[in-house]
Amino acid sequence: MSSAASEPIFADRLLNDWLASVGLGIEYSRAEANTLYFRDGSGREVPVLDHVCGFGSLIFGHNNPDIIEHAKSVLDEQIPVYVQLSRQSHANALATVLNAILRRETPSGDGDYAAIFANSGAEAVEICVKHAELERRARIVRLTDDVLRHVEEAREAVGAGRATVAETPYVQVGAARDDREKLEHLIAEIGRRNAELVAKGPVHLALENAFHGKLVATVQLTQNPHWRMPFIALSSSTRFLRADRPEEMKGAIEDLRESLLDILVADGAVTVVERDFPVIGAFFVEPVQGANGMRPLTEAAAREIRAVCDAVGCPLIVDEIHSGMGRTGAFLASSHMGLQGDYYTLAKSIGGGIAKNSVALFHQDRFRPEFEVLHSSTFAKDGFSAAIAMKVLEMLEADDGRAYRVAAERGERLMEMLTSVKADFPEVVDAVDGIGLMVALEFTDQTRATSDLIREKAGSGMLGYVVAGYILREHRIRVLPVGPAGNSVRFEPSVHLTDEDIARTESALRDVCAIIRDQDGDRLAPR
Ligand code: F0G
Repeated sequence: MSSAASEPIFADRLLNDWLASVGLGIEYSRAEANTLYFRDGSGREVPVLDHVCGFGSLIFGHNNPDIIEHAKSVLDEQIPVYVQLSRQSHANALATVLNAILRRETPSGDGDYAAIFANSGAEAVEICVKHAELERRARIVRLTDDVLRHVEEAREAVGAGRATVAETPYVQVGAARDDREKLEHLIAEIGRRNAELVAKGPVHLALENAFHGKLVATVQLTQNPHWRMPFIALSSSTRFLRADRPEEMKGAIEDLRESLLDILVADGAVTVVERDFPVIGAFFVEPVQGANGMRPLTEAAAREIRAVCDAVGCPLIVDEIHSGMGRTGAFLASSHMGLQGDYYTLAKSIGGGIAKNSVALFHQDRFRPEFEVLHSSTFAKDGFSAAIAMKVLEMLEADDGRAYRVAAERGERLMEMLTSVKADFPEVVDAVDGIGLMVALEFTDQTRATSDLIREKAGSGMLGYVVAGYILREHRIRVLPVGPAGNSVRFEPSVHLTDEDIARTESALRDVCAIIRDQDGDRLAPR
């Protein structure tokens, strides 16, 4: 229903105005497979080829008939959907299937991951932030307990005259009457410094241009400053590392090191020693960086990230929210680069295109069972989304993983086409990147273009959106830029992508590339 101009608008006022300004303000009325439909002025249904496919959440397309049929049947059966704090064996059934798949695809080959279900991708990542902090806190408690024990040992040794307090660069204990008083000064000062350190939040590691969501903690793991900076005071900080410089990673975090002060009694002397303090909470990694032009991690980067986590002792969190669930030709994109995670996150396509669902998986060696009650949500683990997830997994795994092979093959065809466009328009296309049905085409820098429109839109990071608006208007194809630096277009269609879809996309891209090459900016202008 359209509202009269004078009616107040309560939702999406700014967003809709902006969408209209770039030619994307269309309301779709129906969707199936890779096609969206809208009604034109005369009420006729107009099909649009959808390359966005729910931001990669539709591996089996819009309203997949098998998933819809399954959804209808579980609703007809009146399955319990919300029965919190009861035995919900569907959660375990789903986790069991996920573990069987992880056993096949992770380098360690074990399937021992405890599952915590949630509602959105960002919530699953947020859960990982919380769980990693539980782990870190447990390490801190072990350390501080050690210190307390050592303090008592020192008191006993000094009290019995078996030890004296040595000079230490950490604490000035000059004006003390005797060693006992000296020791108490020392203990007080160590306690004060250690308490300061223990009270500090963790620092997280992530890759430059990462996207891990927009909740309070996750937005700090998402590098884009427009989204992150307004909320920087709300959560722990992140150190962003370059995926293309793996050899620099260890050095880049060297300055994060902090030491807890401990007391040691040896050879009749009480001395102060430094103990490594767990500053780093976790390392968050997307195996294919969506917001960074669909760039897969290199094997060298994957190896170094694992080595950093092992050296620091923090969990490696493999965020497969975008890349997982078969899109790259395997269930886990990380399996392509041999990246072993301690936690995994999944979301998007696990909802089958009709439910909201996500899950965080924790290796049993690290899982803290109390977390099952420390995190919960009214809607998580519900019977409906679990039933849909089971169906999606069954469809992915059917026929010995046919869906993965189709995703890989369709992705290769799409990539071949994009590569040929790049070859024919080297002055317009900078890069084509990605894997499987998760690819992007990046335009060359147009901030010095001779066309006013192209130059201005490139300067404001809007070129990709204007290009998307043009492709939608002229070719009836829906694409969007990757991430906020809108100098690109992304393709993440379902496995139902046809050769004809790819051919149509090719002619649309060639048309746009010719416009940019010829600096014919007026043609791109939104109407
Ligand atoms: N992690 C990754 C790798 C993602 O790609 C996303 C979302 C999230 C976490 C957050 O999930 O939206 O369900 O809370 N990516 C979308 C995108 C927004 O543009 O691909 P969410």
